[in-house]
Amino acid sequence: MQVVPFSPDQASTFASDVDGLYGFLWTLTVVLGGVLTLLILYFAVKYRRRDPDEIPRPVAASHRLEAIWVGVPFVLAMGIFVWGTSLYVRMYRPPDEAIDVYVVAKQWMWKMQHLDGHREINELHVPVGRRVKLTMTTEDTIHSFYVPAFRTKMDVVPGKYSTMWFEPKRAGRYHLFCAEYCGTSHSGMIGWIDVMEAPEYQAWLSGGAAEGSLATSGQKLFEQLACITCHKSDGSGRGPALEGVFGKTVQLSDGQKVVADEGYIRESILTPRAKVVAGYQPIMPTFQGQISEEQLLQLVAYVRSLSGQQSQQQSQQQSPTVQPQVTPRGAGSQTNANRQSK
Ligand code: CUA
Repeated sequence: MQVVPFSPDQASTFASDVDGLYGFLWTLTVVLGGVLTLLILYFAVKYRRRDPDEIPRPVAASHRLEAIWVGVPFVLAMGIFVWGTSLYVRMYRPPDEAIDVYVVAKQWMWKMQHLDGHREINELHVPVGRRVKLTMTTEDTIHSFYVPAFRTKMDVVPGKYSTMWFEPKRAGRYHLFCAEYCGTSHSGMIGWIDVMEAPEYQAWLSGGAAEGSLATSGQKLFEQLACITCHKSDGSGRGPALEGVFGKTVQLSDGQKVVADEGYIRESILTPRAKVVAGYQPIMPTFQGQISEEQLLQLVAYVRSLSGQQSQQQSQQQSPTVQPQVTPRGAGSQTNANRQSK
């Protein structure tokens, strides 16, 4: 006989916090519901009409009683609000340093792309105890990336990047579901998150991935699409140089400022005239319909690789030595760039 567990494994750092809040709400609901029901029954019996001619006695108002029944629920409600909000903010604000994975959803599968070029379908390998950030988009309709054991879920919406993050706490294999009805085979749009111990993860990383890193593919595309004729690295082109741009605040021609994140780069490729960098003309053509979501992610990864990790990446490419196996948290993006040399 198979036992259905009351709740999924607590496999991420969010899990016990989410369960704590949920448990509190659940307990509060049961206790309040129980107390109110008992009070209703008790009062119904105690203050029942005993005589057909009975005249009710006037009841004097009690300010103290009123203050209690306004005050206690107020404190409870605000407490839940603050508790829930702080948890939400923590869960939905990705850390600066994390292992980056790009996810493209489509009817009806999940395509995962690691920065080093590893690709997976309906399966995601991550190391235990490291933060993982997913940047996700979809080729068709809305989907939702849901890992119950991590207690986290994020909608994947057409035309934009959604992000989510988690830190797996225990090695194991955990269900991935699509949690947004997306057509006939929605229920089959499922997969696994494989959380591995660091040595196994490194072994997994060192196998396969013959295609080269995402950024290398992006670089090829950058040349193929002739982006390079305008975006010259010395800044003499008709478009801005892209070196060092990623993650920085960019001054726009309309006086506004924008942070050059994945979403901005994506928008600049698909709708180049929406946010033009100050000092440049809106002459870039759109690439809407000419490149796939996966190619867009390659370009994003390439532009990203032009910031900061460039010199290290090149020095690594010249030395065919073994890469550092386990890097501390905070060195995630460098590690990913280093892996290019494989
Ligand atoms: Cu994808 Cu439901």
